[in-house]
Amino acid sequence: MIDLPEVQLPGVRFGGLRQSMAAPPTDALSKDILALKRKLHAVILAHNYQVPEIQDVADFVGDSLGLAQQAAKTNAEVIVFCGVHFMAETAKILNPHKVVILPDKDAGCSLEESCPAPKLQQLQSTNPRFWTIAYINCSADVKALCDVICTSGNAVKIVNATPKDRDILFVPDENLGGWVMEQTGRPMTLWKGNCYVHVEWTHAAITRIRQKYPGAPVVAHPECLKAVRMLADEVCSTEKMVAWCRQAPQKDIIIATEAGMLHRLKKECPDKNFIPAPTDKCACNECRFMKMNTLEKLHDCMANLSPQVQLSADVIRRARLPIDRMLEISSRDVIGNAG
Ligand code: 13P
Ligand code: SF4
Repeated sequence: MIDLPEVQLPGVRFGGLRQSMAAPPTDALSKDILALKRKLHAVILAHNYQVPEIQDVADFVGDSLGLAQQAAKTNAEVIVFCGVHFMAETAKILNPHKVVILPDKDAGCSLEESCPAPKLQQLQSTNPRFWTIAYINCSADVKALCDVICTSGNAVKIVNATPKDRDILFVPDENLGGWVMEQTGRPMTLWKGNCYVHVEWTHAAITRIRQKYPGAPVVAHPECLKAVRMLADEVCSTEKMVAWCRQAPQKDIIIATEAGMLHRLKKECPDKNFIPAPTDKCACNECRFMKMNTLEKLHDCMANLSPQVQLSADVIRRARLPIDRMLEISSRDVIGNAG
């Protein structure tokens, strides 16, 4: 069945959904994928935003942090990464000697695009006291220039662990960065990037849906605009959304994040009613990059062992340090710190 060892690193809690495979998918394509997985001694990791049929064949479904933690500890020979390119790159950096494949190598991210490595280097050269924290949504070249990586699930913890005598440069998401500043009280220089999906939710649209469901709490991702975060009852990573919704007494819950999340939430909390927060201009709560991956492309990448993530040894070496630092800080138990 699952190729994930049950051993846990000391102090590390692994969030995410491990499929029981008690009732594995029965369609022919999914069955072929599971057969290929056994043949390749592969593990299939999928982000919470993947289409339902990919989530249902994955060994593990989770947020960026949970996926990086799984990639760090897997003993599988091949990692099949269903997410966007920077996530698969992170898995490769953690496993330089393993084959890491992904269904579509063009699955990018607007945050990654906003921050080219040479421009970051230019800004870094203006202040030798900068401590650069990069949100994991960036290229391996950018990771290689940073002191530490964070995800939305651990950003508060990572910022709190920053040496007091350093000036924080936070890249590339200005909304996550703004939220973390509010949580920690640490001033930071913010890169002006954003997630093109999460900035579509507006104060007006959230106010309207709240009026329609007056008793329903709003749960929003920290990549949302401040005007939306201010209306939310909870702001958290996709993985923490699962835990928060599970313990919430309300049946109706409004969700302001990418649409794929609803499949995971419905699976984990079948007794709840999840209401996708509407966007103002368009029905654009789907990430076109995440949705480039299909079950067919997943099958083909496993059948052909292609496309593979390829990175230079130098980039892997330099990008590994800030990722390891993140995993280490993340594993520390800090009482009273949810980050
Ligand atoms: P999470 O780490 O919360 O899953 O978010 C990743 C992402 O890309 C959000 O848009
Ligand atoms: Fe990037 Fe936004 Fe898509 Fe997440 S939802 S992968 S941040 S573009």
